[in-house]
Amino acid sequence: MRDFSNVHILNHPLINHKVAYLRDVNTNTKVFREIITEVTTLMAYESLKDVPTEVVTIQTPFEKVEQRVIKNDSVAIVPILRAGLGMVDGIFQLFPTAKVGHIGLYRNEETLNPVKYYCKLPKNIEDKVVITLDPMLATGGSSSAAITLLKQHNCKKIKLMSIIAAPEGIEKLASNHPDVEIYVSTLDRCLNDVGYILPGLGDAGDRIFGTK
Ligand code: PRP
Ligand code: URA
Repeated sequence: MRDFSNVHILNHPLINHKVAYLRDVNTNTKVFREIITEVTTLMAYESLKDVPTEVVTIQTPFEKVEQRVIKNDSVAIVPILRAGLGMVDGIFQLFPTAKVGHIGLYRNEETLNPVKYYCKLPKNIEDKVVITLDPMLATGGSSSAAITLLKQHNCKKIKLMSIIAAPEGIEKLASNHPDVEIYVSTLDRCLNDVGYILPGLGDAGDRIFGTK
């Protein structure tokens, strides 16, 4: 895979440890969901380190201090349905008031092309840092289409957080959207012949929602 300056593979021991449970076929739905949340929160430390901040004045027990805090209403999150929903609580741990948009896409099983079925975005999303969430970056078709849609809504500062990515997906997304910062916890080997990531964790939506 080529090197892309907008791609960040976190490869952090705390995250890798949890990804092991996600990969394990014996991890049940409840635990799978909990770990998706935990991994997302851990990833957020790195991926949101440049969110807009502002200075406020705080009175400590001793004196006033100028303190930098996150700028009010400056971050929106956009999970790609379905599996991206599993990552929302992980961001809420850090940004409980973040506005949430939803983009619904599924992959056509034969062509693997994304099919859009829903889009509802918060007001003034174009003024916010938009964090797109999807645990799986396989061919890159879904996240690339979601980001194109966000750009059509005039979003200017867009990031993507994915837990597991295939090199094919990173190549496509980073080439189509070189202005988007891509944060991935783990880079896997390749796609299989039906577009699933190997070794991967299976179908993230099915494992989060118990649909298989
Ligand atoms: C999965 C996953 C991503 C997409 C990744 O969604 O959650 O959105 O596939 O594949 P891609 O990079 O090749 O586009 P899926 O289409 O299975 O829908 P679901 O989340 O509703 O199950
Ligand atoms: N979507 C998933 O949920 N898993 C994959 O491995 C690829 C696409």
